[in-house]
Order: sequence, then structure tokens, then C-alpha cells
Amino acid sequence: MDAQEEDRVLIDDDADEPFVSNTLGYPVTVADDALPLVQHFLRARGQAFVVLADEHRALAPIAARLSSDPLCMGVRAFKLGEARKRLATVERVHEAMLGLGAGRDTLVLGIGGGVASDLFGFAAATYMRGVPYAHVATSLVAMVDAAVGGKTGVDLRAGKNLVGTFSDPVAVFAHVDALQTLPFRHIREGLAEVVKTAVIEGGDFFEALETLAPHPFWRWPWSSIVTESVRVKMMVVADDREERGMRELLNLGHTFGHALETASGYRITHGVGVALGLRAASMLALRTRRFSQREYLRLLGTIALLGMPLQTSVDPDATFAAMRSDKKRRAGTLRFVLPRAIGDVEYGVQVPDRLVKAVLAQLQRSPDSVG
Ligand code: GLY
Repeated sequence: MDAQEEDRVLIDDDADEPFVSNTLGYPVTVADDALPLVQHFLRARGQAFVVLADEHRALAPIAARLSSDPLCMGVRAFKLGEARKRLATVERVHEAMLGLGAGRDTLVLGIGGGVASDLFGFAAATYMRGVPYAHVATSLVAMVDAAVGGKTGVDLRAGKNLVGTFSDPVAVFAHVDALQTLPFRHIREGLAEVVKTAVIEGGDFFEALETLAPHPFWRWPWSSIVTESVRVKMMVVADDREERGMRELLNLGHTFGHALETASGYRITHGVGVALGLRAASMLALRTRRFSQREYLRLLGTIALLGMPLQTSVDPDATFAAMRSDKKRRAGTLRFVLPRAIGDVEYGVQVPDRLVKAVLAQLQRSPDSVG
């Protein structure tokens, strides 16, 4: 076996075999080319549908292919991005749905990444008090996190995802081939969520990431990575749909990450925020003597090898202020998700503010640092 073949079997990449699971009560499908499976689903459902797509040009052929069905009432594309994940965009989507003649019996088929799944899912959940929603995920963030688990929502000026619903979709499809059209920075966005999931799961999953990390992304077995991430996410969400307990695990790195995004005015993207947040949560775990130095360095090394940032110039005081409007607060107190080890993560941890501030100061890029 040559070196390349050896890499590809680090995680068994059975690319011809789509993964389909009903663990959450709706089908979640991962396939290199998921589009024939989406078409089959639409035909089997036999329901009139509208297509809402992110206006990104790589998605136009996907929208065209899925809208060729006679039951399709029309397609609308929207300019998205975190800065447009707002109620004003939802109103435009609602108006467009109305213009297409969508009624309470219309299925909404969303196409796009994490912002698309959050925003179109929210638009469907609130249109005429709720219409069924299916999503075709075309970014890594959407495939491994945003589209699975029923969270929908938009941002307010004060912070991320402060308005939203828990509304299960009727189906989710990860169209893995779409990753080939993405630039590195988009892959990196989703990688932070993959690393997060691998820290929660530990074992072979994290080891596979450590081994793959030095290799170029085109050699990664993406179907397997997405499938493994989806499996872990479904397992966590299945027992706690509305985040009353263990679903909080999926917020590992997010309390810091969301605050960094908000404090930077969204100059810092979600993936970069989560990567920095993973480091910050690990530093907090070190400071509270939960995490060992060895495990910390293992995680840090993987984040660095994946080309994700370890430091930031975002102001620590502004970041701490943004944390105060985090919706994960309970009774005015911040709660953190902290690793005890890779594969052993604790949620609902309360930590003195001074330790949080010390970590934010440590995360700050010194003026003379490189990168
Ligand atoms: N993105 C975290 C969750 O779905 O709970």
C-alpha cells in the first residue's frame, strides 16, 4: 500500500455508500453526491416546494438541478453571510415565499451553509406559524453542525443567535461534493466544529484528526469525517433536543467564540471564533486544574497544524462584555463547557470572572507576535 492509500484508510472512506440515519426522527443523509437522494425524497414526499438558496454562484447549478421537479413552485436566492443573519433578511425571505405562492402545505427546501440553515430554517419555522423544512448542506459547518439538530435563528446587534426556535427539519442532506468548490478559509470554518466534536468524542476520531492534520485537505476522507461528526452530534442531541443538559457539550469553545465574533463586529468569523474558543476553554480547564498540560498541548498542536489561529487582536474587555449577553448564562452567571481530557468534556461549569479575564488576556496577540 503506498503512502497515499495508507492515509485514505485512516478513517474508512466508503465513499460509494451514503450514510443515512433516523436517530433524530428525520433522515440525515451524508453522500458525496446527495442530489439524487434529495430528488428521490422530494418525489416520495409528493409535496409542492419552494427552493431558498444562498446566492453564492457555486450553488446555482445545485438549485437549478433541484428545482427541475414539476412540484417546484420557484427558486429564490439571497445574499447571506453572518452580517445578514438578521430579522430584516427573514422578512425578505417571507415576502419572497409569499410571492412564490407558498402556503401552509408548502415544503421549504433550503440550500447553503450554516447561515442558510439557521436563517431559512427560522423563516420556515415562523412562516404562517410554521411550514416543513428540509436542508441541503453545502458547507462543512452546515454538514457537521448547523443543519443537524433543529436549531434555527438569527442574530441581534447584542449577540449571536439571540432569536430562534428549536424546529426539527423533515430531512437533512450533506452534499459532500460541494466541499470541493470551497476555498480553504471556508473549510477551516467547519474544521473548528469538527475538532470540537472530536474533542467531545475522543478516541479514534481525535486520533484520526491528529494523523490527517498535516495532510492537504484534498486527501482527507471527507464523507467519513462528516459522517463521524454527524453521528456524534445526533447522539448528543437525541437525548436533549432543547438543550436542557448535555446538548450544552456542543457549545465547547462557543462561549468565548461567540463573544469574540460579537466583540470584533463579525470581523472574526464563526470558525475562527470557535478555534480561538477551543484554545480559551482549554486554558480555562488548565487554570482550574481539569485538563493536563499534555492533553492541552495535543489539542493546541492539532489546532495549529490545521492552520487555525491561536491568538487574536480582539480587545479582551470588549470580549468579556460581549460574554455578558451570552444566552447560555443562567441566573446571570456564565456557564462554560470545559475539557477534562480529550473524550471527556464537562458542561455547566461556573468559573470566577477573574480567571475568564486572565484567559482572554492570554489569548491576546502581543504586538510583536507573528501571524
Ligand atoms: N451548534 C450547537 C448545537 O446544535 O447545539
